[in-house]
Amino acid sequence: MSRKRQSDTEHTVPALYAMVQPGLEPVAADEITRDLGGEVKKTSRGVVVFKLPEITPDILKLRTTEDLFVLAWGSDTLTYRPPDLVNFRKWTANRPDWGRLFRIHHAIRPKIKGKPTFHIVCQMQGEHGYKRYDAHQAIVDGLRNKVPPGLIAQEENAWLEVWLTIRGKTAVCGVRLTDRTMRHRTYKTDHVPASLRPTVAAAMVRLAGISPGMTVLDPMCGAGTILAEAIDLCNRRKTREVTMLGGDLDPNAVFVTGENLACVGQAQLARWDVRQLPLAAGTVDRIVSNPPFGKQLLTPQDVGPLYGQMARQFDRILKPGGRGVFLVAEYEPLRDSLRDVGWKPTRQHKVRVLGQPAVLSAWQKPDALATMSE
Ligand SMILES: C[S@@+](CC[C@H](N)C(=O)[O-])C[C@H]1O[C@@H](n2cnc3c(N)ncnc32)[C@H](O)[C@@H]1O
Repeated sequence: MSRKRQSDTEHTVPALYAMVQPGLEPVAADEITRDLGGEVKKTSRGVVVFKLPEITPDILKLRTTEDLFVLAWGSDTLTYRPPDLVNFRKWTANRPDWGRLFRIHHAIRPKIKGKPTFHIVCQMQGEHGYKRYDAHQAIVDGLRNKVPPGLIAQEENAWLEVWLTIRGKTAVCGVRLTDRTMRHRTYKTDHVPASLRPTVAAAMVRLAGISPGMTVLDPMCGAGTILAEAIDLCNRRKTREVTMLGGDLDPNAVFVTGENLACVGQAQLARWDVRQLPLAAGTVDRIVSNPPFGKQLLTPQDVGPLYGQMARQFDRILKPGGRGVFLVAEYEPLRDSLRDVGWKPTRQHKVRVLGQPAVLSAWQKPDALATMSE
């Protein structure tokens, strides 16, 4: 390589990619652009490829992403046939400057005590004419003599990990810059059934648009994930004087929320029934919630009546112009109930939560004064 080309390569910041919950790519792209000043280059299902002027530990502040990687190579023209394997090995062996990618990794994730560990992870979705094991082996072969010596093989949560992710005709390969705390957080010490993924809760509170002085409510708070993410977002943005309210029918959920919020921040919590909320009319600015859905928590015939009563309560307590953000599996009953009280949909994202399809939607209650002046 000529000296000029080598110095150009050294000065070009490599691309990064984020793994996100399928369906949340636009929300993650918005966070990457606005909060980090990144430039999104490409998105595909569950993956956002982006560039930053500089790669610093600030990337670990992202909240809607599950994992971050520095890109070694990517392709969206896989053939689904065995020649892909030859390319995986060739691209891994020839394309990236692995030494540089590993140095970027070490700057973000400094060595911890004990022997440093290493692992190659291969994920594959879709019907391909080769096995996941073969794709994994292609990366092992391509990386021969490129990995620093002295690393101990470790199956899970290794310090240094190279991942190959194949989804249909798309593949990305890179060095993982994050660990499990990005997707699971550190505050979630206690759980309830059907507790929400923190990254999904983070996407919901971003869509809510919380401003100083607001009152934010999750009336079916479960383990308190949405409240924790809302408090965290307000803390990081220095959004002052926000009142957080939470409650649940299940007293254990209220207790668990208290435990999980202990090291995050303050919320007023109560045991209540969403169908009879003990809150005064027109006192809440934002409702962000994940009502019970799926066989685990509700029978299909219970969904419609519950959502209908819930929507009438929400309409009573929300201020005119206020917003609601909801995640449900059964979208039609929610949509019909909120339309019945006159709310307007503003955003909709089809996502997958706990392995099942769900809809994340944002709604606005009309502002009576604004409507009169139209
Ligand atoms: C899907 S879970 C919420 C999970 C929560 N977002 C989390 O991350 O842990 C739904 C919650 O609604 C609560 N719930 C069910 N019926 C309710 C009702 N009538 N009033 C209040 N809460 C209710 C359940 O106890 C459960 O905790």
